[in-house]
Amino acid sequence: MLLDILLILHLQVLVIASSSSAEEDGSSEREAEHSKGSSHQHHWGYHDQELWLSAFEHCSGKSQSPINIDTDKVSYDPKLPPLKLEGYDLTGSTALTLINNGHTLQLSLPSSMRIMRGFDQVFVAAQLHFHWGTKEVPGSEHTIDNVHFPAEIHVVHYNTKYANLAEAARKADGLAVLGGFIGIGLHDNDNYEKIMSALSDISIEESDTEIPGFNVRHLLPDSLDRFYRYNGSLTTPPCFQTVSWTVFNDSIRVSRRQLAALEDTLKTEHNKLLSKNFRAPQLLHGRKVLASFHTGRTLGKAKALPAETEDSNTMESSGHILTIVFGALFAVTLLVFSVYTYRQRKKYSKFKKDSKQNVIYKPAVVDMDQTSVTVT
Ligand SMILES: *[C@@H]1O[C@H](CO)[C@@H](O)[C@H](O)[C@H]1NC(C)=O
Ligand SMILES: *[C@@H]1O[C@H](CO)[C@@H](O)[C@H](O)[C@H]1NC(C)=O
Ligand SMILES: [Zn+2]
Repeated sequence: MLLDILLILHLQVLVIASSSSAEEDGSSEREAEHSKGSSHQHHWGYHDQELWLSAFEHCSGKSQSPINIDTDKVSYDPKLPPLKLEGYDLTGSTALTLINNGHTLQLSLPSSMRIMRGFDQVFVAAQLHFHWGTKEVPGSEHTIDNVHFPAEIHVVHYNTKYANLAEAARKADGLAVLGGFIGIGLHDNDNYEKIMSALSDISIEESDTEIPGFNVRHLLPDSLDRFYRYNGSLTTPPCFQTVSWTVFNDSIRVSRRQLAALEDTLKTEHNKLLSKNFRAPQLLHGRKVLASFHTGRTLGKAKALPAETEDSNTMESSGHILTIVFGALFAVTLLVFSVYTYRQRKKYSKFKKDSKQNVIYKPAVVDMDQTSVTVT
């Protein structure tokens, strides 16, 4: 009878489960059709990032970018070679094209700019661009311990063994992107001003201008020695998983005014403000994040060891105190109890000689108590 009821319940659960999964299947099919129909293939945006998944197959891969960098979980790798940049120091005679492409602010870079050391091959620069938010919403793509910075710069390089950026972007070892966090400082950043001062010329989508060359190295943090390294992807469709990411620990500072210029000047389609152009952090799916330096935790291990012992010492000594207190309480209880038992026994023995069971029973209780005290 009971078995029958259980069987019926079980069947019902199965029926409900299969019908709901059928619903899910149906809706995702409709979604895919919808996105194909409305040609999201070309008109992707940041407000509907979940649509990237159905319109661009790579965007749902397991090595996507950006990611959150959990400084407690990165692995210090002393063998990560330091970067050596070459040709970043451009002169004013090199004209650089600055473009508002509707998704970002992008500066084209000459092939004389290269990463000479840091990877197995030489990588050549193609362009740099930015991701940002609004005054209220910080817009870096990578996050550090789940915290966004106001903005982020990406300098895109491709492997010299490939003919161009487009070809390299599809190859596993094709791209190396340098990422730097942009925060707010007290002063205008003169290097950033070389770009920011031209923003108003390209406020309309798909417009560009030329600016004189300058030392692009100065757009990156002062120190390039401390960085994180992981394997990831383009952070925009088609999301190819071909990027070796370098995200610097040292950040860059621009003034509040300069950041506001970035956030409030450029327009995207339908003359809407181009802002919040950052993709949400993606799952690691077991990927490793390396660090060229000792992060909080690895540093902590050496340092925190005495701190930890100190902690456990404190724990132990408070444990000792508890043991003593309980021991004392127990002793007093035992004393009172024995006196009481002794008197009772005296009373009993007056009336009944055959009451030995009590005597046997009581020490048993005492033993159990003793065991529990030892355990605490
Ligand atoms: C990235 O992938 C390459 C090729 O699989 C591998 O050799 C390398 O160790 C990976 N790098 C990191 C930081 O995981
Ligand atoms: C830089 O490294 C320190 C030490 O691990 C960490 O506390 C800090 O959050 C890092 N900052 C960035 C931007 O990576
Ligand atoms: Zn980017």
